[in-house]
Amino acid sequence: MYLKFLVFLTATAVGSTSAANLVCYFTSWTVYRPGNGNYTVQNLPADLCTHVNYGFVGLQEWDGSLVILDDDEADRRQELEHLKQKRDENPSLKLIVSMGGWNEGSEKYSHVAADPNLRQNLIQSVLDFLDKYEFDGFDLDWEYPAQRGGQPEDVDNFIVLLQELKAALTPKNYLLTVAVSGGIASANTSYDIVRLSETVDMIDVMAFDYHGAFDNYVGHYAPLNASHLDVTDLQKELNVFRGITYWIESGAPPSKLNLGMGTYGRGFTLADPSNTSLYAPTVGDGNRQAPYTRTDGNVGYNEVCELYLATYQYYWDDEQQVPHIVNGDQWIGYDDMRSIELKARLAKSLGLAGAMIWSLDTDDFHGICGNGPYPLINTVKRVLNE
Ligand SMILES: *[C@@H]1O[C@H](CO)[C@@H](O)[C@H](O)[C@H]1NC(C)=O
Ligand SMILES: *[C@@H]1O[C@H](CO)[C@@H](O)[C@H](O)[C@H]1NC(C)=O
Ligand SMILES: *[C@@H]1O[C@H](CO)[C@@H](O)[C@H](O)[C@H]1NC(C)=O
Ligand SMILES: *[C@@H]1O[C@H](CO)[C@@H](O)[C@H](O)[C@H]1NC(C)=O
Repeated sequence: MYLKFLVFLTATAVGSTSAANLVCYFTSWTVYRPGNGNYTVQNLPADLCTHVNYGFVGLQEWDGSLVILDDDEADRRQELEHLKQKRDENPSLKLIVSMGGWNEGSEKYSHVAADPNLRQNLIQSVLDFLDKYEFDGFDLDWEYPAQRGGQPEDVDNFIVLLQELKAALTPKNYLLTVAVSGGIASANTSYDIVRLSETVDMIDVMAFDYHGAFDNYVGHYAPLNASHLDVTDLQKELNVFRGITYWIESGAPPSKLNLGMGTYGRGFTLADPSNTSLYAPTVGDGNRQAPYTRTDGNVGYNEVCELYLATYQYYWDDEQQVPHIVNGDQWIGYDDMRSIELKARLAKSLGLAGAMIWSLDTDDFHGICGNGPYPLINTVKRVLNE
């Protein structure tokens, strides 16, 4: 089922039987970004990723049905048709529709997962969607079971929902995937990892957002490993290495795991510009909204390399194995080609199925910064398949 087109390119490599998964999220709202940040299906090369996850569709709580999340529903439907044309260019590309995400919250999902009739409605509307748009699978991004207004029963109800989805999708050869938390405490609260792993085709571990402006101190959004400044048990576990290792040690087979990596970063405003170290006090989000992503505390790699690197000071952290940049009271931690290569090497050394990328639109997709289009995603692709 997972044999890919790239098999032919890698078949001569010893021990390599199939191409690694490269699951890339396409987000529907990036068409509203201005200038070089504007990202549409037309920008997406059909052969870059093995799977494209279209995010997000939503859940309608009263009847459990799948809904398009945009006032411009007609535009979104046209976008789905354009994605389908990408697969005509590359028939091995898998198109997956993704439901949920942070902004959807958890309560609706908790309610629907607990009710057998609503679950059946959800499953039927997923099937209708997949048939209608000729997609290849369904991805559930419930963030997160038993958290954010959910209830303890969510852990079991999530599995029941997925089992019922799987039973309905498998006869039609549709894939079932989930995006899950890469934080140990969070994953421990939300998932029965063994049963989850038995039920779904792939697990995309969101190994990022370990730190952000929701904290009141400096921290990288996705450190590969701990720093000597991490002293408590919790501090030591908020990194990619510990997060993904927890999933494996808890019984998830590496062959179903994709390591999530970001093409973005998170920023802070320093309380004292002279203290830029990990855990230095901050006073909230990076306060300069970047021109494309236009979200407090968030920045795309494309914005960093195109607009910020010239005026910010670059630092590499040898322990956490990630970069950050500083200008005055602004501190931004992100991933670049060097750090994302190390993450891809970690995924490979752990024998994982591949990588998940959040998201296509914030890589340097125009190739403005001198390393070709999609330098981060192409770095991951090269390492996984070498
Ligand atoms: C983004 O690009 C699309 C497709 O070219 C175009 O229709 C849309 O108006 C652009 N949006 C902005 C904000 O420039
Ligand atoms: C998971 O949660 C249980 C119950 O709260 C707790 O006993 C256990 O230590 C936790 N495990 C980890 C790895 O956090
Ligand atoms: C993370 O750091 C620990 C302790 O220094 C080390 O044993 C481990 O190999 C490191 N892992 C990675 C992926 O660098
Ligand atoms: C920076 O802030 C941290 C956390 O409050 C503190 O431990 C450290 O001593 C500070 N460093 C400097 C140079 O002020």
